[in-house]
Amino acid sequence: MLAAWAVKYRPKSLAKVIGNKETIQKLVDWVKSWDQGVPKKKAAFLYGPPGVGKTSTVEALAQDFQMELVEKNASDYRTEDAINRFAGLASQFGSLFGGKRIVLLDEIDGLTGTADRGGVKAITDVLKTAQCPIILTANSAYDPKFTNLRNYCLLLEFKKLPVGEIAEHLKGISENERIQADETTLKFIAQRSQGDVRSAVTDLQALAQGKEKLKYEDVSWLGYRDRQDTVFNVLRMIIYGKTCNSARQAANMSDVDVDMLFEWIYENIPDHLTDQHDLAMALDALSIADIYRGRIRVTRDWSLMRYVVDYMTAGVAMARQNSEVSGWIPFKFPSRIQMLSRSRAERATRLNIGKKIKHRCHVSAVRASKEVLPYLRIIFENNTEMAVGLAKWLDLDPEMIEYIAGSEDKAEAITRLLC
Ligand SMILES: Nc1ncnc2c1ncn2[C@@H]1O[C@H](COP(=O)(O)OP(=O)(O)OP(=O)(O)O)[C@@H](O)[C@H]1O
Ligand SMILES: [Mg+2]
Repeated sequence: MLAAWAVKYRPKSLAKVIGNKETIQKLVDWVKSWDQGVPKKKAAFLYGPPGVGKTSTVEALAQDFQMELVEKNASDYRTEDAINRFAGLASQFGSLFGGKRIVLLDEIDGLTGTADRGGVKAITDVLKTAQCPIILTANSAYDPKFTNLRNYCLLLEFKKLPVGEIAEHLKGISENERIQADETTLKFIAQRSQGDVRSAVTDLQALAQGKEKLKYEDVSWLGYRDRQDTVFNVLRMIIYGKTCNSARQAANMSDVDVDMLFEWIYENIPDHLTDQHDLAMALDALSIADIYRGRIRVTRDWSLMRYVVDYMTAGVAMARQNSEVSGWIPFKFPSRIQMLSRSRAERATRLNIGKKIKHRCHVSAVRASKEVLPYLRIIFENNTEMAVGLAKWLDLDPEMIEYIAGSEDKAEAITRLLC
């Protein structure tokens, strides 16, 4: 079974955590200070955007210092019972087995609404008397509900990571997975992730797994806008949606347009709906959505859009009846879009070659690309010397040569002789 690379490459020690070095050092100093007695601030509050290493840092730190890590998702800390258990844990530095303990309350912004106000207050009360280091994490520390809690915490901000560092991290992973990827390609993925290492690693896996080589053209078609982690969340909400409403809402959350979302769903449902009947139902829903898309194109009646959205979200979500998915299945990028953009780029190259031929042979560029190009291809594939002469005569650039020659190796041989 496939493992998620974001999990596989979780840093096992602090040295492997990238970025935020000064902040991490402050955290380490604070944890060490416990050896001299209970410090003034009994909790550290790590806050910052998703996927920058807050949770991983705490896990790596516990590993490095051989401390027992008691890790809880904060939303479990709603009931009185759970809070009492937390208070019990926090009241002792030493664990049962003699080691030292850290308590991590992860993602405390999961505590929402007034019902959880009590929870935040109870946690604050525990912090006042804690006898072991407590670490809290959240995306933002400045939510009003944390106003009082903040007074008892050492606030540590985790920032987004710079593109260069993320790209470097991706390079390490590609090497380990034996995938050749050049710097520009990895930088592109890093840039798209907007400082979020988790989504960069997940992107890399979706794009590169199973390949020997990842090229810029395999990724450039993605553009910058549709950040993939949101697309992943949206897809999960649609394909695994339990109610029509939640699936429908997912479409609103998405920052990709409806047509692109359609492609994402279409590409991914076969892997996630393992039951044939479920898959047929989902495809049926998509086909109806597609009919409405067609009607919008013809009539420009955008009020029909709600049917498109309903069928492709709620329709797909409700199709899941018997499919059972075991383990983690990665989401794939829509290959139809990739193909379309490839063929668009290809058409452009062909026309540009046609223009070069036009200059020399006085035929139209379109006719040249239709009638002359096939012969050039035969020559370029079979006779390097003649290809070199023709490339010179027509003043072809390396991209054109590669297109005509049909393979990188041949193109390289020709370009080498050209110089
Ligand atoms: N600084 C980092 N160094 C190395 N890997 C990282 C780093 N940040 C994130 N990752 C990768 O992303 C994954 C998720 O990171 P982590 O769970 O620590 O993020 P987080 O900041 O806690 O995010 P969230 O706010 O969503 O909980 C890790 O398993 C790891 O693969
Ligand atoms: Mg986390």
